[in-house]
Amino acid sequence: MCGIIGVTGAPDPMQVLLDALALLEYRGYDSAGVALVNKASLWRKRDALRGHSLDTLRAAAGEAPSGMTAGVGHTRWATHGAAVERNAHPHCDCSGAVAIVHNGIIENYQELWDKLKAEGHTRSSETDSEVVAHMLEREIATGAGLAEALRRCVGELRGDFALAAVSTSEPEVIAAARRTSPLIVGLVDGTGLVASDIAALLGTTRTLFQLADDEIAEVRPGSISVVGLDGHAHELEPLEVAWDIVAARRDGYDDFMSKEIHEQPRALRDTLMGRLHADGSSELEELSLTDAELDEIDRVVFVGCGSAYYACLSGRIALEHWARVPAEVEIASEFRYRDALLSERTLVVAVSQSGETVDTLHALREAKRSGARTIALTNVVDSLLAREADGVLYTRAGPEIGVASTKSHATQIAMLQLFALHLARRRGTLAIDDYRAIAKGLLELPGLVEQAIGQMEVYLELARRLAEVQDVYFLGRGIGYPVALEGALKLKELAYVRAEAYPAGELKHGPIALIDERAVVVAVATRGHLWDKVMANIAEVKARGATVVALCTQHDQATEAVADHVLEIPEVAELLSPVVAIVPLQALAYGVARVRGNDVDRPRNLAKVVTVE
Ligand code: G6P
Repeated sequence: MCGIIGVTGAPDPMQVLLDALALLEYRGYDSAGVALVNKASLWRKRDALRGHSLDTLRAAAGEAPSGMTAGVGHTRWATHGAAVERNAHPHCDCSGAVAIVHNGIIENYQELWDKLKAEGHTRSSETDSEVVAHMLEREIATGAGLAEALRRCVGELRGDFALAAVSTSEPEVIAAARRTSPLIVGLVDGTGLVASDIAALLGTTRTLFQLADDEIAEVRPGSISVVGLDGHAHELEPLEVAWDIVAARRDGYDDFMSKEIHEQPRALRDTLMGRLHADGSSELEELSLTDAELDEIDRVVFVGCGSAYYACLSGRIALEHWARVPAEVEIASEFRYRDALLSERTLVVAVSQSGETVDTLHALREAKRSGARTIALTNVVDSLLAREADGVLYTRAGPEIGVASTKSHATQIAMLQLFALHLARRRGTLAIDDYRAIAKGLLELPGLVEQAIGQMEVYLELARRLAEVQDVYFLGRGIGYPVALEGALKLKELAYVRAEAYPAGELKHGPIALIDERAVVVAVATRGHLWDKVMANIAEVKARGATVVALCTQHDQATEAVADHVLEIPEVAELLSPVVAIVPLQALAYGVARVRGNDVDRPRNLAKVVTVE
């Protein structure tokens, strides 16, 4: 998804922009660009060669005139207008004196553009973003400073956005503003910085501030001032940063995805550490809800997108089973428009690795508006979701760079299970022995995931054998169904293989019509109370000629006997199984993708963080 960087007062502003854009690459982009200003001129370079745009910018660095004072840079993920150079950011005004970069969507851009057109402005892109450059041109012409001009513009904009602008009229200033989309400002040794993502500033500065909605910042070398929409000065909100740049490197793995799959035991240990004790007691320090508030909850609604949504499906099963609290799961983009019936006794748990996914953020806001209590379950300390929710549950997966979620998905499930256990203990819904057995099982998960990862070569070998597959059907029941969904998603995202997941019991209500000898069926058939039902479903697809891959408990001869191939995992308690069972499916998708030559870290058309609807 789009990334923003701005710099003023650095000896080599172009280098700062290039370094930051490289750190933003992981969000996914299809074009990139930079603009630099001094008093006399504005220099801009853009490129839309997907995956190579940053190389083009690096190669052009020498062309930038010397003595440039400030600049902005952007990685774009196309929404309005194709991924071509003229639509890449930065966008300029008619005179070429103002350059802006923008994340998000300006909903009323057509209306604004009609006005600008009538005033004689001409546009050179199909984007919604460009209107802002022309609006700034209009305001600067009336004598306004850059930040004041941006303040006036922001009042006219509808939608979610983060904006940064530079102009030859005030060549030492970056003006920045945001609504919903995140934007951070910071200072280091006299250099002023603006970025959409902490990752862009890792290693640069720890003195960072988060802009609030509808705040406008004027960033100069050595100073930052912020005003609200009404022009009154605001205090800056310091931002806590928990990550280290070293952790964001590949550490000798071929790609981030492989590194992140292997990091899962560590990520799970860190997530549970200090929160769950061997005696079964738990502490969820950032939860912020009092015990009395927790006890009043009579319904839980989980919301999330993509893999986070699938983690919620696993979490719901644990919560209902252990804590006996009615729970629902909904895709965030559906929930936000559903006019859901919530009360102050409803707890809405919004799950998002990034804490920035716009649909999840809006779902949380919708829940708050309806009076529900809210919790953010996120991997990013101080992210927007974390700031806006009543309480937080942090996963401690560390930075996840690969676009497809792996360690963050695993830690989301473990954290949801821990939360379910926490509620069960408060409510006394489990016998003490059961409670302790679950706690013990949770603490053993990192070791079991490690054992599964120890089988990586076996999993990858099967992936290589299945690399030509065209259609794959994933089946699962009960706790195995979310695993099937996540396995199918991984195969789609990474290997670009048609993959669908079905609750195995639904097979005979339609999907079985698709099964013939060309189909590959991956059945989640680990031991649990629905194992024999899944076996019956395997028999149904085998009878129609499908090739069956059984994901099963190791040494399970009964399952192995009916399958064409097996993906074995260590024995694990049924409700705790998803975190372990997902490992071979991650490996399957990864292996098929690698054989096909796909970019596993940056799959086509996908973005790590989806900050538009
Ligand atoms: C994108 C990513 C997925 C991720 C989803 C939700 O679609 O490609 O991997 O699961 O967003 O992201 P979040 O940051 O909210 O967990």
